[in-house]
Amino acid sequence: MAARATGSPRAPTRRALLAGLAGAALAPATAAAHHGPPLRELAAARGLVYGSSVRIDALEDPAYAALQARESAVLVPSYELKWHPVARRPGVYDFAAPDRLMRFAGRHGAAVRGHTLLWHRSMPAWLDARVSAADMERHIETHAATTVGRYAGRIGSWDVVNEAVSPVDGRPDGLRASLFLAKLGERYIDVAFRAARAADPAAELVYNDFGVEHEGWNPLHPKREKVLELLKRMLDRGVPVDALGVQGHLATRSPFDGDRWLRWLERVRALGLRILVTELDVNDAASPAEITLRDAEVAELYRRFLAATLACRAVTTVVTWGISDRYSWVVDGVEPSHRRADSAKPRPLPFDRDLAPKLAHVSLAAALTDARPR
Ligand code: XIL
Repeated sequence: MAARATGSPRAPTRRALLAGLAGAALAPATAAAHHGPPLRELAAARGLVYGSSVRIDALEDPAYAALQARESAVLVPSYELKWHPVARRPGVYDFAAPDRLMRFAGRHGAAVRGHTLLWHRSMPAWLDARVSAADMERHIETHAATTVGRYAGRIGSWDVVNEAVSPVDGRPDGLRASLFLAKLGERYIDVAFRAARAADPAAELVYNDFGVEHEGWNPLHPKREKVLELLKRMLDRGVPVDALGVQGHLATRSPFDGDRWLRWLERVRALGLRILVTELDVNDAASPAEITLRDAEVAELYRRFLAATLACRAVTTVVTWGISDRYSWVVDGVEPSHRRADSAKPRPLPFDRDLAPKLAHVSLAAALTDARPR
């Protein structure tokens, strides 16, 4: 940009320096040298699992499919295994899309995680407020039995219940005022976990939620406490929950205190639960437009979050919510908070739209390499 080049002498020098550093660090020789060792190998060397969510339709894009195959030891369908896409009519199931992902994963030696049985934002249209409590229970049982049962022995880990805690809904127990809760009370969670356990006794069953990662939501951070309280109640009732999934939807310039985060993770570990990072990405809406500066802020948050998170021995898995900025819900801008005021495309993931590694990839690779072996 001519205006920039003729601007103050300091700005172009600093820009050039940053661009030069980034370029030197990422300069491609061959594709493999360009990317470094696959993230899945770096993770496996420490007894960890790295993976990514996948948009199954995007596997038609050969370069994207090759990147996923190379980097991800576990693949998670971001949409196609949710309740409404698999059961558009009561009792009528269509697993064609997840089956395609199973075949892709099988060809590339990757596992698949199941996401997600119950989520208030993926209710089938036919399941509405008119349903009786007894029918709601039956529908949850049938859905868990059918879905987990179909992939028994093949999908080793499931997000059984997603986002059941929402302190802003104003209930003393912090539970989200969902249709599930209205019909069955907290027991809906038990029904789903017990049916999932019965359908595949060997599968890892996960309670998954967001909003525990940042300090920023509330100074007292009720969500962390409310999630812990829910997990304790579940364990007291004998609900078969094996792990907590922390989604890890981060945002630059949001307060994050790694020490406090690690202390909270240790409280989860003390309950005897494993921990997975299930949906890591970084919303860069608060960062400057200039890409080297923006990528540096995103990468710094990946670094700080992963250093604290992987210091907890209960953490087994890191899944990013997408792998390349080519396919990302943040870039799609469905959530207003993901949209940048300057309309620039967000850059939330380790690889850019051209599938080249960014500084976030450097942070991720370094965090996996530096992790204590499991
Ligand atoms: C998002 C997907 O990425 C989108 O493609 C879909 O339309 C909506 O859901 N928390 C979750 C994920 O648990 O299921 C969400 O995924 C992102 C927030």
